[in-house]
Amino acid sequence: MWHSSEGEFTAEGKQCSRPGCCSWDASVIEAILLVGGQGTRLRPLTATTPKPMLPVAGQPITVHQIRRARAAGVGRVVLGTSYRADVFTRALGDGADLGIDVAYAHETTPLGTGGAIRNAAEELNCGPNDPVVVFNGDIINGLDIAALVDGHVSSGSAVTLHLTTVEDPRRYGLVPTDETGRVLTFLEKPETEAEIVTNQINAGCYVFRRSVIDRIALGRPVSVERETFPGLLRDGDLVRGVVDDSYWLDLGTPWDYVQGSVDLVTGRAPGAQIPSGAQIRGGQSLVLDGANVSPEATLSGGTTIDRGCVVAADAIVDGCVVMTNVHIGQGARLFRSAVGAGAKIEAGAVITEAVVGDGARIGRDAVIGAGARIGVGAVVPDGITVTANRG
Ligand code: GTP
Repeated sequence: MWHSSEGEFTAEGKQCSRPGCCSWDASVIEAILLVGGQGTRLRPLTATTPKPMLPVAGQPITVHQIRRARAAGVGRVVLGTSYRADVFTRALGDGADLGIDVAYAHETTPLGTGGAIRNAAEELNCGPNDPVVVFNGDIINGLDIAALVDGHVSSGSAVTLHLTTVEDPRRYGLVPTDETGRVLTFLEKPETEAEIVTNQINAGCYVFRRSVIDRIALGRPVSVERETFPGLLRDGDLVRGVVDDSYWLDLGTPWDYVQGSVDLVTGRAPGAQIPSGAQIRGGQSLVLDGANVSPEATLSGGTTIDRGCVVAADAIVDGCVVMTNVHIGQGARLFRSAVGAGAKIEAGAVITEAVVGDGARIGRDAVIGAGARIGVGAVVPDGITVTANRG
């Protein structure tokens, strides 16, 4: 429970408990969702669809995140858009279908994470002392968002960061804390063993005091990790890190993106909402309404087959994301791969840990493997083998 400029609230967003205290609708905890990045590591899937709108378990990542935020008491979300903003507005509108108020703050040129948060704050309604939850738009996790907000408010922090621990922190910036959770410093990706002073990393979800966001420069690129957070430490503000080691995955690469979808379908990642009309097959795979899967095909390993797909007899699809209107021919075999909308996989083709762009055609008995990426609309002739290094 906390008392802000507008009244007294719980992290679940319950109404003010003080009779006559305020008229503010306390169910409206506000959030900012950062969805404006180019998603370069996920090309060619992001050539047409921005990363946060790519489907996991049959729903865009953004929809999944908004549902979880709403369940934690968030009533209003501002989407910080830049790249392909039209895709978000067309799909989500004012949020009525999701039972939440969705607003948009567009950046004509991308402003980076900090600049995007500041730009989105122009659309917030809350007061200066209120908590604002900020999410990177490419994360799925099992974080207790309401508890993070509660701890933020009761500690009086300027910012509270969700931290997670990883076995190999070399790919990430490190966030060491003291025993009370106070962040000591923000370190760039470590290059030597000696620089690995902690395995705690920034997990891409924050709670800001609104007035702290207003201190970020407006209208120029700012990195929240490199500029805003270190600046707060220099100014002596309390920045707290909360280690929450529940499920966490950054869907930034094709392999992690596919893994995230698989984890939602198999239940390893919490909170999947199965789209209406979809079926879970064998507890292992998700088939959306309107897909036509032969009874002689084998789906396994958390595969999703989206609307309008056809999967012919003897095909095997294991641990894959297959987007709308894909045709998979007889005896084709697909493993741990992502296949973009409208692609055609001819009979006997084999695809392993690869990415196939929208509308591509993979020829009969072709072999695609070793991290290959097939471009949007590309044609791989019959019988050809394509390999590449993972990007
Ligand atoms: P890569 O190009 O593959 O690194 O992906 P990305 O562009 O999504 O960058 P990154 O993974 O670092 O971004 C983390 C989150 O912040 C994602 O949800 C992005 O959509 C978002 N993001 C990154 N840069 C910007 C920006 O300049 N503006 C906005 N609004 N969001 C951004």
